[in-house]
Amino acid sequence: MTTLTTAPLAPLLDRLFTQAEAARSPVMAAMPREERERLLRSRTDYLDFYSRLNDLWLAVSPETGRLLYMLARCTNAHTIVEFGTSFGISTLHLAAALRDNGGGHLVTTEFEPSKITRARQHITESGLQDLIELREGDALETLSHSLPETIDILLLDGAKSLYKDILTLTEKHLRPKALIIADNADFSPDYLAHVRNTENGYISVPFADDIELSLRLA
Ligand SMILES: C[S@@+](CC[C@H](N)C(=O)[O-])C[C@H]1O[C@@H](n2cnc3c(N)ncnc32)[C@H](O)[C@@H]1O
Repeated sequence: MTTLTTAPLAPLLDRLFTQAEAARSPVMAAMPREERERLLRSRTDYLDFYSRLNDLWLAVSPETGRLLYMLARCTNAHTIVEFGTSFGISTLHLAAALRDNGGGHLVTTEFEPSKITRARQHITESGLQDLIELREGDALETLSHSLPETIDILLLDGAKSLYKDILTLTEKHLRPKALIIADNADFSPDYLAHVRNTENGYISVPFADDIELSLRLA
């Protein structure tokens, strides 16, 4: 038995994935591909871009969610930092792993007020609220202080152009053998260049289509 596969979390996640799937994206669909890619790479327009997408879940897939749970379980993670909460789907998978690892602390952050409200509702419904600290605001500020002394897992799933900045903010807290999981890092070439250079203390590989999985060496 696991927290992920039993009530209350399992039926909650089923419902949330169904809602995420049903939510259509008129903004994304209407946006030309070049414009979408430019905004994803932009270091200045990310606030505007994500506020235009504030109705969208943009969640990890059920498979990626399960993978997050497995990675957190097999590394016996107790401290996790997440950049990009949205409605809380990835957060809930990671917090379930903390519960099944015997407890811990997950810091996650989101700047869209309506998403924060919904994420808080889902977190409460999951019964995992004692494990989750949701910081409200821009991650460049919310993750610039009061981080766990050591971080076992870092999930990067917010504005792609900020991945390198968020890694810089958290890097000295990453424990040796910490995992960094970055979603859609192709839009973040400076981040990829950093983690793919072993001289910077990482070994890294693209994984499962849209993830870059990196191991902190020391
Ligand atoms: C891809 S979604 C996250 C999906 C979530 N991890 C999940 O699987 O359910 C990215 C989220 O990051 C948020 N975000 C983007 N840049 C941010 C920033 N600088 N600070 C805080 N939140 C940010 C967006 O508002 C959006 O909700």
